[in-house]
Amino acid sequence: MSMIQTKHKPVLTEEVLFYLDPKPGKTYLDVTFGSGGHTQAILEKEPDCSVIAMDWDERAFELFGEGLQERYPGRLHFIWGNFALLYKLLKREGFGKVDGILADFGTSQVQIHERPGFSFAKDAPLDMRMSPPHQKETAADVVNQADERTLSDIFFSYGQERWSRQVARAIVEERKKSPIETTADLVAIIDRVIPKTAEKIHKATRIFQALRIYINKELSNIQSFLPAACQALLPGGRLVLISFHSLEDRLVKQFFKDQEQLGLFTVLTPKVVKATEKEVKLNASSRSALLRAAEKK
Ligand SMILES: C[S@@+](CC[C@H](N)C(=O)[O-])C[C@H]1O[C@@H](n2cnc3c(N)ncnc32)[C@H](O)[C@@H]1O
Repeated sequence: MSMIQTKHKPVLTEEVLFYLDPKPGKTYLDVTFGSGGHTQAILEKEPDCSVIAMDWDERAFELFGEGLQERYPGRLHFIWGNFALLYKLLKREGFGKVDGILADFGTSQVQIHERPGFSFAKDAPLDMRMSPPHQKETAADVVNQADERTLSDIFFSYGQERWSRQVARAIVEERKKSPIETTADLVAIIDRVIPKTAEKIHKATRIFQALRIYINKELSNIQSFLPAACQALLPGGRLVLISFHSLEDRLVKQFFKDQEQLGLFTVLTPKVVKATEKEVKLNASSRSALLRAAEKK
């Protein structure tokens, strides 16, 4: 096992605690445990509450779970699985409904550094699965097997890449010569196709984001998670959700709006909550975090 070098820095922690508002004797569900930063903040803030923490990446628990369980004996329980199935998983593990649910969507810094294929800055097999035991298809499978139209749609829909058609065409041409197996193979193609611009981000950013969202079914998992979370929440319980790009945030915003119109939830954040300048200075990845919260009636 490789030595752990990275720990995910939690974002918007103060805001999470403010909206979740943990109370004595209550149980909270953190469906994206990661490095446990938010889980720990909840346990610290309210010494008489407990947390059920979920993640589909087993490594998250291997790396950070045991230490936290020792530190907060009897107050922290783990469930390994996909949050899209959270209602079923809670029931299967013998838990009842909960008093609050937190989700911090996306990828952890640990996954970006440790799991192969997430970072275009590091040459590695094109994999990109957050949880290989739950997922079959790798990014290399898609890049080498999907037809040109499908690839172009993935790059455009999930990456908003304006060069999506040209990149898809170049991939299809290139793979006729030899399979595209590594991040470096893909970056080389993108580099040739997308012209230099004044943009600060790397040319491969949007294509890699699109593939990651597609491989991990990030949007459809959120779509299944939202109604399941409502079911798992007790009346008066709160849902606190952090998105990292507009595609995720749009799903959350619309869902909250619908629930409010149905009279089932009160939205607590009329405007999306973002990180303060101070936080962005300390943790650059908080720049794109978008938090929304709602309370079940
Ligand atoms: C941004 S990190 C969360 C970081 C965490 N809040 C912390 O303080 O360290 C997102 C985590 O969600 C997990 N995740 C992503 N999609 C998931 C899914 N569908 N089901 C369960 N966990 C998921 C990832 O494996 C990752 O560990």
